[in-house]
Amino acid sequence: MVQPTTVSVLANPEEILAAALAEFDQALEAMADPLVSFATGETFKALFGRLRERFEEGSLDARSFRGTHLDEYEGFGIERVGGMMAQLLVACPPFRSMLEEGRFLPVPSDASGIAAYREAVRVAGGVRLQFLGIGRNGHLAFNEPGSEFSSVLRRAELTDETRAVARGTFASETVPRWAITSGTHDILSAHRLVLVATGAAKAEAVKKAIEGPIDPACPASAIRMHPNGIFLLDHAAASLLKSSGLEEQGRQACS
Ligand code: GLP
Repeated sequence: MVQPTTVSVLANPEEILAAALAEFDQALEAMADPLVSFATGETFKALFGRLRERFEEGSLDARSFRGTHLDEYEGFGIERVGGMMAQLLVACPPFRSMLEEGRFLPVPSDASGIAAYREAVRVAGGVRLQFLGIGRNGHLAFNEPGSEFSSVLRRAELTDETRAVARGTFASETVPRWAITSGTHDILSAHRLVLVATGAAKAEAVKKAIEGPIDPACPASAIRMHPNGIFLLDHAAASLLKSSGLEEQGRQACS
């Protein structure tokens, strides 16, 4: 079923950060010990920086929520540079203590860990808040174009385009071709979805996700089937939307 989807176009990075933090705070207020699933990538660095500050100044308690994330490169254990969990630990070092206490669930780096990870997410009550980035080709996590909406956590092959974008993260190392990724079905199972997209490089994917057909050709279009999702965009990412004349802070329902 197609749901009304909220699109919020915000004026600057500070407003986007504030909106993302408000989502995080609401998840923590709504229930005890919610499971928050983070997306990695450039888009979320400011959020992790602010969470780190909050941990360090004592205004965020590592026991007030549980954490996890969307995807991991195959063969990239927690400490391996370039891996998603390793990136999270660089961006927000206090996550390490959560890992050590079993309160942060790392996505397994090989398929043998899938069943145990899924069970850990189930025991944690499922994902309350799912942060999402979007790939330039419309991917969600590593659900590349063509991934079925019914897909669940699995080993998935990355497209050449996705690998080219990731090249900067890996310096001299070859960008992995395979990853373990949450499936679109898993993502849609979260209580709340918050997709953040910034910059002109995301504008085409954002347009397809919001105004194109709801179709696996654009995995991010699946968000429009979710009853509780929001797109937080800057003007550049929203620039190709028909409704790009949206007022700053404006909200509109798309269907
Ligand atoms: C990556 C990851 C996603 C991420 C997205 C956007 O490939 N698999 O989880 O959200 O692409 O990344 P960035 O914010 O760096 O543009």
